[in-house]
Amino acid sequence: MNDAKSTANRDTVTLTDNSTGKSLELPILGGTVGPRAIDVSKLYAETGYFTYDPGFTSTASCDSNITYIDGEVGVLMHRGYLIEDLAENSDFMDVCYLLLHGELPDAKEKTRFEKSITYHTMLHEQMNNFFRGFRRDSHPMAVMVGVVGAMSAFYHDSTDINDPHQRMVASHRLIAKMPTIAAMAYKYSVGQPFVYPRNNLSYAENFLHMMFSVPCEEYQISPVLARAMDRIFILHADHEQNASTSTVRIAGSSNANPFACIAAGIASLWGPAHGGANEAVLQMLNEIGSKDRIPEFIKRAKDKDDPFRLMGFGHRVYKNYDPRAKVMQKSCHEVLGELGIEHDPLLEIAMALEKIALEDDYFVEKKLFPNVDFYSGIILKAMGIPTSMFTVLFAVARTVGWVAQWREMIEDPKQRISRPRQLYHGYAQRDYVPLDKR
Ligand code: CMC
Repeated sequence: MNDAKSTANRDTVTLTDNSTGKSLELPILGGTVGPRAIDVSKLYAETGYFTYDPGFTSTASCDSNITYIDGEVGVLMHRGYLIEDLAENSDFMDVCYLLLHGELPDAKEKTRFEKSITYHTMLHEQMNNFFRGFRRDSHPMAVMVGVVGAMSAFYHDSTDINDPHQRMVASHRLIAKMPTIAAMAYKYSVGQPFVYPRNNLSYAENFLHMMFSVPCEEYQISPVLARAMDRIFILHADHEQNASTSTVRIAGSSNANPFACIAAGIASLWGPAHGGANEAVLQMLNEIGSKDRIPEFIKRAKDKDDPFRLMGFGHRVYKNYDPRAKVMQKSCHEVLGELGIEHDPLLEIAMALEKIALEDDYFVEKKLFPNVDFYSGIILKAMGIPTSMFTVLFAVARTVGWVAQWREMIEDPKQRISRPRQLYHGYAQRDYVPLDKR
């Protein structure tokens, strides 16, 4: 039905409706790298047809200059820089600046940026009351959704999305305050007093300080652990149009304020198919319990009638090893070494599971490789971070990606409210049935 051809000015694809014989030429759009896209934006107006693509497996929803993934090869780049290079040579503040501004900062720009983030780390004191409204056993992601959404009620001077300065202030506030909110959610859950941020610490150090210091004893921050935490933040910073980022873009497309949009992103991230997978991986490794039970779990993952999946395996885009998982695996060994943990039973199960799965026909055929969440939980657990906080850390790191993508969308002249269409399978019009006749 379709054939691609090149015209003098542009490439097009011709769509022919076999029932009417009518044809329509659709432009093919190309980016810098990666697959090209057929522009169907005029399709409905010209033909009365929609396209149908549940889960958006073949649909590009926007133009973007921020992040590129080649899932077949296993490549992830931010603004053209490979994630492995950024994880090795940059810190999280560099990566935040890069995602927000398009270039790595020079020394002066970096100092100014870090100062702005540091300046915004404290939370409005009255927001402390919000935490007290939650049950102590609330999942910290529930607290994050609520408190980040509540920021809209406290920072009125940065909710005008039409003002570029306010957009930037809101972006900095969100990046700066997320670790504070996350650590407060944790402190509340364990009944300890909130610990205020300290301006002389780096982003990752500050987070560890707010998590683990108590008024009677300062937490001694290990540089190896701070570097590992910083690297975890880098590896989760952005991942193009994933579910939570698309949620942020869709929420923002109605011109909702940035705090409300990021709260929507956090809600989407929570699910175990997305950011919740790091928590689910650890639960799964604990459930497996010993290496000899791995075959049983592999069998369950392959069974169509069993909803169980190997958590931390598979990805919508990566059909190769997730490049973030490789860095994470290396970091995992460094952290366990620093902490003097020679034999971690969960790591041993994880490594054995990975080996068996990578050799199994089912996983090979379906191209199911370990993803970023497979090893992160083991590192976080070794650092003393409770399992329920794993997805919260993902949210802290992903905030920069969300705000960068949100700002790119607002600044795109082509931006319109996101409003997908549907294929309706419900009743056609029918007569109303009064209550006594039902
Ligand atoms: N274990 C067993 N089978 C799997 C798995 C898995 N982890 N993942 C996919 N499959 C199978 C699935 O059953 C399907 O088989 P079939 O074609 O026979 O029906 C096939 O592989 C394709 O799976 P899909 O669900 O259609 O693929 P998707 O692109 O819609 O889903 C995914 C991607 C990440 C949701 C899925 O691989 C999954 O549920 N993985 C486990 C959860 C996880 O680790 N999520 C973290 C993703 S990375 C971080 C992030 O983005 O937040």
